[in-house]
Amino acid sequence: MILGIESSCDDSSVALINSKNLELIYHKKISQELEHSVYGGVVPELAARLHTQALPALLNEIKQYFTQIKAIAVTNEPGLSVSLISGVSMAKSLSIALNIPLIAVNHLVGHIYSLFLNSEISLPLGILLVSGGHTLVLNIDKNGCIEILAQTSDDSFGESFDKVAKMMGLGYPGGAIISHLAQSANDKEKFKFSIPLRGDKRLEYSFSGLKNAVRLAIETQGENLQANKANIAYAFEQTACAHIMDKLKLIFKEQNFKHFGVVGGASANPILRHNISELCKEFDCKLTLAPLEFCSDNALMIARAGREKFLRKETLKHKELDISPKSRNLKL
Ligand code: KG4
Ligand code: ZN
Repeated sequence: MILGIESSCDDSSVALINSKNLELIYHKKISQELEHSVYGGVVPELAARLHTQALPALLNEIKQYFTQIKAIAVTNEPGLSVSLISGVSMAKSLSIALNIPLIAVNHLVGHIYSLFLNSEISLPLGILLVSGGHTLVLNIDKNGCIEILAQTSDDSFGESFDKVAKMMGLGYPGGAIISHLAQSANDKEKFKFSIPLRGDKRLEYSFSGLKNAVRLAIETQGENLQANKANIAYAFEQTACAHIMDKLKLIFKEQNFKHFGVVGGASANPILRHNISELCKEFDCKLTLAPLEFCSDNALMIARAGREKFLRKETLKHKELDISPKSRNLKL
Protein backbone atom coordinates (compact mmCIF):
# COMPACT_ATOMS: atom_id res chain seq x y z
CA MET A 1 0.00 0.00 0.00
CA ILE A 2 0.96 3.63 -0.55
CA LEU A 3 -0.09 6.23 2.00
CA GLY A 4 -0.86 9.72 0.69
CA ILE A 5 -0.85 12.87 2.83
CA GLU A 6 -2.05 16.28 1.60
CA SER A 7 -1.92 19.51 3.61
CA SER A 8 -0.68 22.18 1.19
CA CYS A 9 -3.45 24.67 1.90
CA ASP A 10 -6.62 24.31 3.96
CA ASP A 11 -7.56 20.65 3.50
CA SER A 12 -6.10 17.88 5.68
CA SER A 13 -6.39 14.63 3.81
CA VAL A 14 -5.13 11.06 4.05
CA ALA A 15 -5.50 8.23 1.53
CA LEU A 16 -4.38 4.64 1.16
CA ILE A 17 -4.17 2.86 -2.17
CA ASN A 18 -3.04 -0.53 -3.36
CA SER A 19 0.13 0.17 -5.35
CA LYS A 20 -0.48 -2.74 -7.74
CA ASN A 21 -4.11 -2.31 -8.87
CA LEU A 22 -4.72 1.29 -7.66
CA GLU A 23 -7.62 0.11 -5.52
CA LEU A 24 -8.77 2.75 -3.04
CA ILE A 25 -8.52 1.45 0.50
CA TYR A 26 -9.16 4.62 2.47
CA HIS A 27 -9.70 8.28 1.76
CA LYS A 28 -10.83 11.07 4.02
CA LYS A 29 -10.48 14.82 4.05
CA ILE A 30 -11.12 17.31 6.82
CA SER A 31 -11.78 20.70 5.29
CA GLN A 32 -11.09 23.93 7.17
CA GLU A 33 -13.46 26.03 5.04
CA LEU A 34 -15.72 26.90 7.94
CA GLU A 35 -12.87 28.09 10.16
CA HIS A 36 -11.38 30.30 7.43
CA SER A 37 -14.67 31.60 6.03
CA VAL A 38 -15.04 34.22 8.78
CA TYR A 39 -11.79 35.77 7.52
CA GLY A 40 -12.74 35.55 3.82
CA GLY A 41 -9.59 33.58 3.00
CA VAL A 42 -7.03 31.14 4.39
CA VAL A 43 -5.16 32.28 7.52
CA PRO A 44 -1.86 30.32 7.39
CA GLU A 45 -1.26 30.00 11.15
CA LEU A 46 -4.81 28.78 11.70
CA ALA A 47 -4.44 26.32 8.81
CA ALA A 48 -1.24 24.89 10.29
CA ARG A 49 -2.79 24.47 13.74
CA LEU A 50 -5.83 22.72 12.30
CA HIS A 51 -3.64 20.38 10.20
CA THR A 52 -1.74 19.29 13.31
CA GLN A 53 -5.06 18.32 14.90
CA ALA A 54 -6.70 16.73 11.85
CA LEU A 55 -3.84 14.67 10.37
CA PRO A 56 -3.13 12.55 13.49
CA ALA A 57 -6.88 11.94 13.87
CA LEU A 58 -7.09 10.68 10.26
CA LEU A 59 -3.93 8.58 10.56
CA ASN A 60 -5.35 7.04 13.72
CA GLU A 61 -8.25 5.68 11.64
CA ILE A 62 -5.91 3.58 9.47
CA LYS A 63 -3.62 2.23 12.20
CA GLN A 64 -4.56 -1.34 11.33
CA TYR A 65 -2.93 -0.93 7.89
CA PHE A 66 0.37 0.55 9.09
CA THR A 67 2.35 -2.69 8.69
CA GLN A 68 1.23 -2.99 5.06
CA ILE A 69 2.33 0.50 3.97
CA LYS A 70 5.42 0.43 1.75
CA ALA A 71 5.96 4.20 1.30
CA ILE A 72 4.49 7.56 2.29
CA ALA A 73 3.71 10.06 -0.47
CA VAL A 74 3.36 13.61 0.82
CA THR A 75 2.81 17.00 -0.85
CA ASN A 76 6.01 19.01 -0.32
CA GLU A 77 5.45 21.80 -2.89
CA PRO A 78 3.92 24.24 -3.82
CA GLY A 79 1.67 25.62 -1.08
CA LEU A 80 1.61 27.54 2.17
CA SER A 81 4.88 26.80 3.98
CA VAL A 82 3.34 26.30 7.40
CA SER A 83 0.67 23.99 5.96
CA LEU A 84 3.18 21.94 3.96
CA ILE A 85 5.37 21.58 7.06
CA SER A 86 2.47 20.03 9.00
CA GLY A 87 1.98 17.20 6.49
CA VAL A 88 5.68 16.69 5.82
CA SER A 89 6.50 16.50 9.57
CA MET A 90 3.74 13.96 10.05
CA ALA A 91 5.03 11.93 7.09
CA LYS A 92 8.60 12.05 8.40
CA SER A 93 7.60 10.90 11.90
CA LEU A 94 5.65 7.99 10.46
CA SER A 95 8.46 7.12 8.08
CA ILE A 96 10.89 6.85 11.00
CA ALA A 97 8.44 4.93 13.19
CA LEU A 98 7.53 2.42 10.45
CA ASN A 99 10.97 2.40 8.82
CA ILE A 100 9.60 3.07 5.33
CA PRO A 101 10.66 5.62 2.69
CA LEU A 102 9.06 8.92 1.71
CA ILE A 103 7.96 10.15 -1.71
CA ALA A 104 7.91 13.89 -2.48
CA VAL A 105 4.84 14.86 -4.52
CA ASN A 106 4.38 18.14 -6.33
CA HIS A 107 0.80 19.25 -5.65
CA LEU A 108 0.23 20.24 -9.31
CA VAL A 109 1.38 16.82 -10.50
CA GLY A 110 -1.05 15.38 -7.96
CA HIS A 111 -3.89 17.31 -9.62
CA ILE A 112 -2.85 15.89 -13.02
CA TYR A 113 -3.11 12.36 -11.60
CA SER A 114 -6.68 13.09 -10.46
CA LEU A 115 -7.55 12.18 -14.08
CA PHE A 116 -6.06 8.70 -13.64
CA LEU A 117 -7.09 7.62 -10.15
CA ASN A 118 -8.15 4.15 -11.31
CA SER A 119 -6.12 3.74 -14.46
CA GLU A 120 -2.62 4.05 -15.87
CA ILE A 121 -1.76 7.49 -17.26
CA SER A 122 -2.16 8.00 -21.01
CA LEU A 123 0.14 10.43 -22.84
CA PRO A 124 0.50 12.85 -24.64
CA LEU A 125 -1.98 15.10 -22.90
CA GLY A 126 -2.98 18.75 -22.72
CA ILE A 127 -4.05 20.06 -19.32
CA LEU A 128 -5.94 23.03 -17.91
CA LEU A 129 -5.22 23.31 -14.19
CA VAL A 130 -7.47 25.80 -12.44
CA SER A 131 -7.35 26.14 -8.68
CA GLY A 132 -7.12 28.71 -5.91
CA GLY A 133 -3.38 29.04 -6.44
CA HIS A 134 -2.88 28.28 -10.14
CA THR A 135 -4.16 28.84 -13.66
CA LEU A 136 -2.01 26.83 -16.00
CA VAL A 137 -2.27 25.32 -19.46
CA LEU A 138 0.23 22.50 -19.87
CA ASN A 139 1.41 20.20 -22.59
CA ILE A 140 2.69 16.82 -21.45
CA ASP A 141 4.55 14.97 -24.18
CA LYS A 142 4.68 11.21 -24.65
CA ASN A 143 7.75 10.99 -22.39
CA GLY A 144 6.02 12.83 -19.56
CA CYS A 145 7.87 16.14 -20.00
CA ILE A 146 5.68 19.04 -18.94
CA GLU A 147 5.74 22.35 -20.79
CA ILE A 148 3.86 25.41 -19.48
CA LEU A 149 1.91 26.93 -22.39
CA ALA A 150 0.11 29.67 -20.46
CA GLN A 151 -0.22 30.90 -16.91
CA THR A 152 -1.63 33.82 -15.00
CA SER A 153 0.38 36.97 -14.46
CA ASP A 154 -1.58 37.91 -11.32
CA ASP A 155 -4.59 36.27 -9.60
CA SER A 156 -5.66 32.74 -10.40
CA PHE A 157 -9.09 31.78 -11.75
CA GLY A 158 -10.30 30.24 -8.46
CA GLU A 159 -8.77 33.05 -6.41
CA SER A 160 -10.74 35.64 -8.40
CA PHE A 161 -13.98 33.85 -7.42
CA ASP A 162 -12.82 33.85 -3.79
CA LYS A 163 -12.08 37.58 -3.92
CA VAL A 164 -15.35 38.51 -5.60
CA ALA A 165 -17.27 36.47 -3.01
CA LYS A 166 -15.34 38.22 -0.25
CA MET A 167 -16.16 41.66 -1.71
CA MET A 168 -19.86 40.78 -1.60
CA GLY A 169 -19.57 39.32 1.92
CA LEU A 170 -20.53 35.83 0.74
CA GLY A 171 -17.94 33.68 2.55
CA TYR A 172 -15.06 31.41 1.54
CA PRO A 173 -14.28 29.57 -0.73
CA GLY A 174 -16.08 31.69 -3.28
CA GLY A 175 -16.10 29.41 -6.34
CA ALA A 176 -19.14 27.30 -5.59
CA ILE A 177 -20.93 30.22 -3.87
CA ILE A 178 -20.57 32.57 -6.87
CA SER A 179 -21.39 29.82 -9.34
CA HIS A 180 -24.54 28.89 -7.42
CA LEU A 181 -25.63 32.51 -6.94
CA ALA A 182 -25.12 33.27 -10.64
CA GLN A 183 -27.86 30.75 -11.47
CA SER A 184 -30.46 33.00 -9.83
CA ALA A 185 -29.55 36.10 -11.88
CA ASN A 186 -32.75 37.84 -13.01
CA ASP A 187 -31.13 40.34 -15.38
CA LYS A 188 -28.26 38.74 -17.27
CA GLU A 189 -27.58 41.85 -19.33
CA LYS A 190 -27.38 44.26 -16.40
CA PHE A 191 -23.61 44.05 -15.89
CA LYS A 192 -20.99 43.70 -18.61
CA PHE A 193 -17.31 43.33 -17.78
CA SER A 194 -14.67 43.40 -20.47
CA ILE A 195 -12.95 40.11 -21.15
CA PRO A 196 -9.29 40.43 -20.12
CA LEU A 197 -6.67 40.44 -22.91
CA ARG A 198 -9.30 39.84 -25.61
CA GLY A 199 -7.74 40.38 -29.03
CA ASP A 200 -4.27 40.22 -27.49
CA LYS A 201 -2.26 37.34 -28.95
CA ARG A 202 -0.31 36.76 -25.72
CA LEU A 203 -0.95 33.34 -24.23
CA GLU A 204 -1.40 34.64 -20.74
CA TYR A 205 -4.15 34.96 -18.15
CA SER A 206 -4.93 37.93 -15.96
CA PHE A 207 -7.83 38.21 -13.53
CA SER A 208 -6.90 41.26 -11.45
CA GLY A 209 -8.38 43.83 -13.88
CA LEU A 210 -11.66 41.92 -13.95
CA LYS A 211 -11.64 41.71 -10.16
CA ASN A 212 -11.21 45.50 -9.94
CA ALA A 213 -14.02 46.10 -12.45
CA VAL A 214 -16.27 43.92 -10.27
CA ARG A 215 -15.16 45.84 -7.18
CA LEU A 216 -16.16 49.10 -8.86
CA ALA A 217 -19.56 47.70 -9.84
CA ILE A 218 -20.12 46.54 -6.26
CA GLU A 219 -19.09 49.88 -4.77
CA THR A 220 -21.44 51.85 -6.99
CA GLN A 221 -24.49 49.74 -6.09
CA GLY A 222 -25.16 51.27 -2.70
CA GLU A 223 -28.45 49.92 -1.36
CA ASN A 224 -29.15 48.08 -4.62
CA LEU A 225 -26.27 45.69 -3.96
CA GLN A 226 -28.36 42.98 -2.33
CA ALA A 227 -30.77 42.89 -5.28
CA ASN A 228 -27.90 42.78 -7.79
CA LYS A 229 -25.48 40.31 -6.22
CA ALA A 230 -26.68 37.45 -8.42
CA ASN A 231 -26.48 39.60 -11.56
CA ILE A 232 -22.92 40.65 -10.70
CA ALA A 233 -21.95 37.03 -9.92
CA TYR A 234 -23.41 35.98 -13.27
CA ALA A 235 -21.57 38.63 -15.31
CA PHE A 236 -18.31 37.96 -13.47
CA GLU A 237 -18.49 34.17 -13.92
CA GLN A 238 -19.31 34.49 -17.62
CA THR A 239 -16.40 36.89 -18.17
CA ALA A 240 -13.87 34.84 -16.20
CA CYS A 241 -14.85 31.69 -18.12
CA ALA A 242 -14.79 33.55 -21.47
CA HIS A 243 -11.22 34.65 -20.67
CA ILE A 244 -10.15 31.06 -20.01
CA MET A 245 -11.82 29.96 -23.26
CA ASP A 246 -10.34 32.76 -25.43
CA LYS A 247 -6.78 31.71 -24.65
CA LEU A 248 -7.56 28.01 -24.70
CA LYS A 249 -8.91 28.34 -28.22
CA LEU A 250 -5.69 30.00 -29.38
CA ILE A 251 -3.70 27.22 -27.74
CA PHE A 252 -5.88 24.49 -29.29
CA LYS A 253 -5.25 26.01 -32.74
CA GLU A 254 -1.49 25.75 -32.14
CA GLN A 255 -1.23 22.43 -30.35
CA ASN A 256 -3.39 19.88 -32.11
CA PHE A 257 -4.22 18.12 -28.82
CA LYS A 258 -5.67 14.63 -29.14
CA HIS A 259 -6.48 14.33 -25.44
CA PHE A 260 -7.19 17.16 -23.01
CA GLY A 261 -7.75 17.06 -19.24
CA VAL A 262 -9.19 19.62 -16.85
CA VAL A 263 -8.13 19.47 -13.20
CA GLY A 264 -8.01 21.52 -9.98
CA GLY A 265 -10.65 22.69 -7.52
CA ALA A 266 -12.05 25.31 -9.90
CA SER A 267 -12.54 22.69 -12.62
CA ALA A 268 -15.81 21.97 -10.78
CA ASN A 269 -17.18 25.12 -12.45
CA PRO A 270 -20.11 23.97 -14.63
CA ILE A 271 -19.81 26.77 -17.22
CA LEU A 272 -16.13 25.99 -17.70
CA ARG A 273 -16.83 22.24 -18.00
CA HIS A 274 -19.53 22.84 -20.58
CA ASN A 275 -17.49 25.31 -22.66
CA ILE A 276 -14.41 23.08 -22.68
CA SER A 277 -16.43 20.08 -23.75
CA GLU A 278 -17.77 22.13 -26.69
CA LEU A 279 -14.22 23.23 -27.57
CA CYS A 280 -12.99 19.64 -27.51
CA LYS A 281 -15.84 18.57 -29.81
CA GLU A 282 -14.92 21.35 -32.22
CA PHE A 283 -11.29 20.22 -32.29
CA ASP A 284 -12.11 16.51 -32.25
CA CYS A 285 -10.15 16.05 -29.04
CA LYS A 286 -10.88 13.52 -26.30
CA LEU A 287 -11.77 15.23 -23.00
CA THR A 288 -11.22 13.89 -19.50
CA LEU A 289 -12.53 15.90 -16.55
CA ALA A 290 -11.33 15.33 -12.99
CA PRO A 291 -14.13 13.59 -11.06
CA LEU A 292 -16.08 16.24 -9.10
CA GLU A 293 -15.32 14.47 -5.83
CA PHE A 294 -11.56 14.64 -6.45
CA CYS A 295 -11.00 17.91 -8.32
CA SER A 296 -10.38 19.89 -5.13
CA ASP A 297 -7.39 19.11 -2.93
CA ASN A 298 -7.27 15.52 -1.71
CA ALA A 299 -4.74 12.90 -0.64
CA LEU A 300 -5.93 10.28 -3.13
CA MET A 301 -4.35 12.17 -6.04
CA ILE A 302 -1.16 12.51 -3.96
CA ALA A 303 -1.02 8.77 -3.23
CA ARG A 304 -1.73 8.09 -6.94
CA ALA A 305 1.07 10.42 -8.11
CA GLY A 306 3.39 8.98 -5.45
CA ARG A 307 2.73 5.45 -6.69
CA GLU A 308 4.42 6.27 -10.03
CA LYS A 309 7.54 7.50 -8.23
CA PHE A 310 7.40 4.42 -5.99
CA LEU A 311 7.46 2.15 -9.07
CA ARG A 312 10.46 4.14 -10.37
CA LYS A 313 12.10 3.80 -6.93
CA GLU A 314 12.23 7.60 -6.53
CA THR A 315 11.96 7.44 -2.76
CA LEU A 316 13.65 9.58 -0.10
CA LYS A 317 14.94 9.22 3.44
CA HIS A 318 13.44 11.62 5.97
CA LYS A 319 16.51 13.89 5.98
CA GLU A 320 16.28 14.33 2.18
CA LEU A 321 12.73 15.70 2.10
CA ASP A 322 12.18 19.46 2.29
CA ILE A 323 9.31 21.80 1.44
CA SER A 324 8.97 24.70 -0.97
CA PRO A 325 6.18 27.28 -1.24
CA LYS A 326 6.97 27.49 -4.98
CA SER A 327 6.74 24.70 -7.55
CA ARG A 328 10.28 23.41 -8.27
CA ASN A 329 9.70 19.95 -9.75
CA LEU A 330 6.89 20.03 -12.26
CA LYS A 331 7.70 16.53 -13.53
CA LEU A 332 5.48 13.48 -13.76
O1 KG4 B 1 -7.53 22.76 -6.02
P1 KG4 B 1 -8.15 23.47 -4.87
O2 KG4 B 1 -9.02 22.67 -3.94
O3 KG4 B 1 -7.09 24.20 -4.00
C1 KG4 B 1 -5.93 24.76 -4.52
O4 KG4 B 1 -4.98 23.99 -4.84
O5 KG4 B 1 -5.94 26.00 -4.65
O6 KG4 B 1 -9.02 24.67 -5.48
C2 KG4 B 1 -9.79 25.51 -4.67
C3 KG4 B 1 -10.26 26.68 -5.51
C4 KG4 B 1 -10.87 27.81 -4.69
O7 KG4 B 1 -10.34 29.05 -5.11
C5 KG4 B 1 -12.36 27.71 -5.03
O8 KG4 B 1 -13.06 28.94 -4.94
C6 KG4 B 1 -12.29 27.24 -6.46
O9 KG4 B 1 -11.27 26.27 -6.45
N1 KG4 B 1 -13.57 26.65 -6.91
C7 KG4 B 1 -14.28 27.16 -7.95
C8 KG4 B 1 -15.47 26.37 -8.02
N2 KG4 B 1 -15.41 25.42 -7.05
C9 KG4 B 1 -14.24 25.61 -6.38
N3 KG4 B 1 -14.03 28.18 -8.77
C10 KG4 B 1 -14.97 28.45 -9.71
N4 KG4 B 1 -16.12 27.77 -9.84
C11 KG4 B 1 -16.41 26.73 -9.04
N5 KG4 B 1 -17.56 26.06 -9.18
ZN1 ZN C 1 -4.92 22.18 -5.38
